[in-house]
Amino acid sequence: MTTRRVARVSRFGDVGAMVLADEWMRAPRGTEVEVRVTHASLGSTDLLARRGGYVLQPMPGFVTGYDFVGVLESESAVSVALGLRAGARVVGTLPRMGAHATRLVLSPTFLVALPEGLDPAVAATLPLDALTASRALALAGPARSLLVQGASGAVGSLAVQLAQRVERTIVGTASARSRDVAAALGIPLVDYTKPDWPAAVRAQAGGAVEAAIDHTGSPLVREALAPDGILVHTAFVGRPGHERADSLRGGLAAARNRRSQPREAVVSIPTFVLRRRPEYRRVLTGLLADAAEGRLAAPEPVVVPLGEVWDAHRAAEAATPGTKVVLAP
Ligand SMILES: NC(=O)c1ccc[n+]([C@@H]2O[C@H](COP(=O)([O-])OP(=O)(O)OC[C@H]3O[C@@H](n4cnc5c(N)ncnc54)[C@H](OP(=O)(O)O)[C@@H]3O)[C@@H](O)[C@H]2O)c1
Repeated sequence: MTTRRVARVSRFGDVGAMVLADEWMRAPRGTEVEVRVTHASLGSTDLLARRGGYVLQPMPGFVTGYDFVGVLESESAVSVALGLRAGARVVGTLPRMGAHATRLVLSPTFLVALPEGLDPAVAATLPLDALTASRALALAGPARSLLVQGASGAVGSLAVQLAQRVERTIVGTASARSRDVAAALGIPLVDYTKPDWPAAVRAQAGGAVEAAIDHTGSPLVREALAPDGILVHTAFVGRPGHERADSLRGGLAAARNRRSQPREAVVSIPTFVLRRRPEYRRVLTGLLADAAEGRLAAPEPVVVPLGEVWDAHRAAEAATPGTKVVLAP
């Protein structure tokens, strides 16, 4: 047994709901390994879960955080078979929240190696969001025209960059506050705060788009989408106080519409990480290599010590475009 420090949500609510706790951590069993976490991202999903509105909402008392970078403190037959020995720098995503901790005990199959030359704080901004962008594009298929909602956001900007690897028309949405960040991606932009924005998307794309990646659940997205296109949901924004129920409702409706016109699909990275481990590791390894070799631009990390988790939540809530908060335990 050893001790660790974690950032917990003590009740659903504002930043004051966060508490730091020191607790016992069991030793690794079987093929598990121990990771000393050095960096862990704090994103929009953590803020939503702290407020109690996340679709996969844990009960109060949970530790936030899905992804992390750290150092392997132990090894096992499985980690060695995966090329991960004690002392290695690793990157991982958990299938349920709990990464905002100084130490983790977990299966090494959740881990991949941190590539040479990639700053660990930058790497920490990527796993959850880059996997989301990558899965969303995989579900969108070979669409020749694509709408990316929130092109300046953590997921949106990565989705645009990955989509640009194929010859296709990409239109993004952004409001005035984040337009400059989205404009750096070199795609036409439409302001989603304007009532006729779907018409503006169609005008920019030369017609209705064949696929849309959306995190809002807004019915207006369909007005920009071709009837035989595909609508890929990464999230559903709910009414204040009803986020979780609205999100569940959106997910169920999308499941019902998976064969309708347009087709709908939902991205769930926790499910992907849990059920498709080898593919998860292969995709994440590729995305990190892309970032290390300059083919994928990550957001600028804003590193905040774990001991200042309240400041970290405030910084994440300010959502400065082009940046992502990273806790440093
Ligand atoms: N499915 C999964 O497994 C998974 C994984 C990770 C994240 N997510 C979800 O993906 C969503 C995006 O996450 P993120 O980390 O990228 O968030 P983020 O960095 O906060 O970005 C949000 C983006 O949405 C834009 N936006 C806000 N309101 C909008 C509206 N009404 N219409 C269109 N765009 C709007 C913002 O643009 P402005 O700044 O211009 O307002 C910003 O670009 C979140 O809901 C998150 O929970 C899902």
